[in-house]
Amino acid sequence: MAMPILEARSLRKSFGSGSTQVKVLCGASLSVAPGEFVVIMGASGSGKSTMLHLLGALDTPDSGSVSYRGESVFDGSRSKQGAYRNREVGFVFQFYHLLPELNVLENVMLPALVSNSFWAWRKTRVSARQNALEMLDRVGLIDRVKHRPNELSGGEQQRVAISRALVHKPALLLADEPTGNLDATTGSGILNLLAEFSEAGQTMILVTHDASVASRADRTLTLVEGVIREAGAPTAVEHKSEPQKPEVVL
Ligand SMILES: Nc1ncnc2c1ncn2[C@@H]1O[C@H](COP(=O)(O)OP(=O)(O)O)[C@@H](O)[C@H]1O
Ligand SMILES: [Mg+2]
Repeated sequence: MAMPILEARSLRKSFGSGSTQVKVLCGASLSVAPGEFVVIMGASGSGKSTMLHLLGALDTPDSGSVSYRGESVFDGSRSKQGAYRNREVGFVFQFYHLLPELNVLENVMLPALVSNSFWAWRKTRVSARQNALEMLDRVGLIDRVKHRPNELSGGEQQRVAISRALVHKPALLLADEPTGNLDATTGSGILNLLAEFSEAGQTMILVTHDASVASRADRTLTLVEGVIREAGAPTAVEHKSEPQKPEVVL
């Protein structure tokens, strides 16, 4: 196998202390190849969000490591961790987390706004806007760019959130129950959209408690009692239309 893009080793994470301490992760490990679509299943409260936050450096583990392209994420400086989180990773959440005062286009341009200084942003504003518009076109929302989030359906809001997560072309997309707040039909549309990005080569890790989501993945893992288990044989690599991932080339 090619070098994993992401590798987690023996992650441990507890919350609280003493008699109220909750041990959430107890040595969770996983390895993700470039271009893979990995689903992590687990019951509510099993630690899926905690795991995803560690993988994206939104939180730090008590012990264990996360390596991105062979480099330890938590051993570097805080600015290096921030660069990993902001440039290499895109996040999608169950409740979208869009800013209500901003319109759709502004929400998607936001990563470019916050990751640059004002002067850098002024220079790149035109391309940031262009990239946001292209992404919104790809997710089918080009006729909604001036709408506020509360003028959109849940499925449309999640499409905006996906656009925002992918507009800076992160190597890794982390999605936390992205269909958890949607009805089955709308959720299925969101999964189709994510599958399209996966087929175009986007590496993604999606956590869910919904077993129907797992069928979309190249590989399904299960989080049980704080550790990650393989939940079945890999299936989906064959259904990719083109072998865009190096490790699939025969
Ligand atoms: N910041 C926190 N402080 C205290 N407990 C937390 C915190 N985050 C998560 N937990 C606890 O850790 C456990 C796992 O939470 P979580 O990772 O959100 O599970 P899941 O996403 O699988 O539903 C739960 O018991 C939850 O209450
Ligand atoms: Mg969760």
